[in-house]
Amino acid sequence: MNTEQLMQIALELADLHEVPGDSAVHQAGTEIKRVLIGIDLHSSEIALAKVLGYDAAIAHHPVGVSTLDFHAVLGRHVDQMAAAGVPRDLARSIVAKVSEPRRILDSMSNYDHDPSIARLLDMPYLNIHTPLDEVGRRRMAAVADGVGEDATVGGLVAALYDAFGEFRHAATRIETLVGALDHRLGRVVVSHAAGTNGGYPVAKAYFDHGVDTVVYIHCRPDDAEQLRGEYGTTKALVVTGHIASDSVGINPYIERLRDEGLEVTPISGILAP
Ligand SMILES: [Fe+2]
Ligand SMILES: [Fe+2]
Repeated sequence: MNTEQLMQIALELADLHEVPGDSAVHQAGTEIKRVLIGIDLHSSEIALAKVLGYDAAIAHHPVGVSTLDFHAVLGRHVDQMAAAGVPRDLARSIVAKVSEPRRILDSMSNYDHDPSIARLLDMPYLNIHTPLDEVGRRRMAAVADGVGEDATVGGLVAALYDAFGEFRHAATRIETLVGALDHRLGRVVVSHAAGTNGGYPVAKAYFDHGVDTVVYIHCRPDDAEQLRGEYGTTKALVVTGHIASDSVGINPYIERLRDEGLEVTPISGILAP
């Protein structure tokens, strides 16, 4: 197995045809048999992989040039919003307001720090972000679709715990930051796999266009508070938990690598399914 194939398998699982801006091979390699995979793998973990005899280190969160092009994947919110009935022009203007500042902020980073260590040690190193989040989004959306609009928000939360060991094994809980567990579930959107959560403006757009329950994997408290003030009695925001939700998308990939005969060691937050 080579690093190109490691990336290709993730794209296949997510039905993506090109590598998104927030994912990249930072140091290529071949004849990979033992893989260290984690949600955050940086220079120290690359060195650890070398010391422990791994053939590749795979991070989930963006590193290297994937941080510079991260802003591009925020555009995925536009397609997700449009699919849920938000006018495309409105969706575009919401995303444009966050993606350009994000590009500028990310351009300030020392983007080559971690890849430079991988090159020095000749340790194959890649990060796969959006493809694995897309796998997780689809899995969670399938569960949400199965619950039915007449169920309660609590019914969705129970179904998520039921479906995914990652949520049962997490030290965090699935939280309802806006609305309440006894609210009617109504129309649900799992808003995930678009770089990061859309905060207040994206959730607001969903609520204003017929969505009753928005699922985020994380949400800043000030965004949640603002949404609570405006929609707390009528709508719901369910926050499933960052690391548990990332694990829901990463585990099918790990399983697939093992099916391909690789030895895979998950670290850095990945919860068992
Ligand atoms: Fe993720
Ligand atoms: Fe994440």
